Amino acid sequence: MNRPSPYKIRRAQVADFLQIAALDRVGWQQNKAADYIPDGEHLWRFFVAYSAVFVAEHDEKIIGFANVFRANDKAIFVLLKVVVDRKFRGQGVGQGLFSQVVKECDRHGFACLTTVDPENNSMLHVCQKFGFTEKEYKAGYYRPEEHRYVLKRYPSR
Ligand SMILES: CC(C)(COP(=O)(O)OP(=O)(O)OC[C@H]1O[C@@H](n2cnc3c(N)ncnc32)[C@H](O)[C@@H]1OP(=O)(O)O)[C@@H](O)C(=O)NCCC(=O)NCCS
Repeated sequence: MNRPSPYKIRRAQVADFLQIAALDRVGWQQNKAADYIPDGEHLWRFFVAYSAVFVAEHDEKIIGFANVFRANDKAIFVLLKVVVDRKFRGQGVGQGLFSQVVKECDRHGFACLTTVDPENNSMLHVCQKFGFTEKEYKAGYYRPEEHRYVLKRYPSR
């Protein structure tokens, strides 16, 4: 890990949604599915208001985010996205966001479900580190050529 940058993690406010959406747009630029992975601003407006979104802040600028929302009728949170600004990757920011996500899940006694690109080794590594023990390969999860692992973490009691 590189020298860590000072950053703080906090719950996102409605006022953050445009910055989060902007980071979502640039955070995937190196990804092979960069054209369609980012979500729109309107969706982020709803997420910050009605789900749990955590942001990492450095010099009053959002450098990372993670969001979870509750699955319908189930004691499960879905972890939709964790994204860290490229300049700040490899410095523990992603794991700082994960800590808040798992704390939120444990506080509710909920499991956490996410999907990860099988080639996304850093995300798979962090998921394993944070107790996502269940892992199922789903071919064509999003598109015929877009496969995913579906990972699940059970709450710590
Ligand atoms: C995945 C992501 C959120 C991780 O954020 P980050 O701030 O770089 O993560 P951290 O620095 O906290 O931790 C990264 C860990 O992965 C490890 N890692 C990095 N590259 C790796 C690789 N190729 N293989 C295995 N492990 C790797 C690091 O060593 C570190 O683990 P350690 O602390 O045990 O040594 C970030 O890379 C990102 O935003 N990627 C683009 C968006 C994305 O793919 N999001 C995930 C799907 S929603």
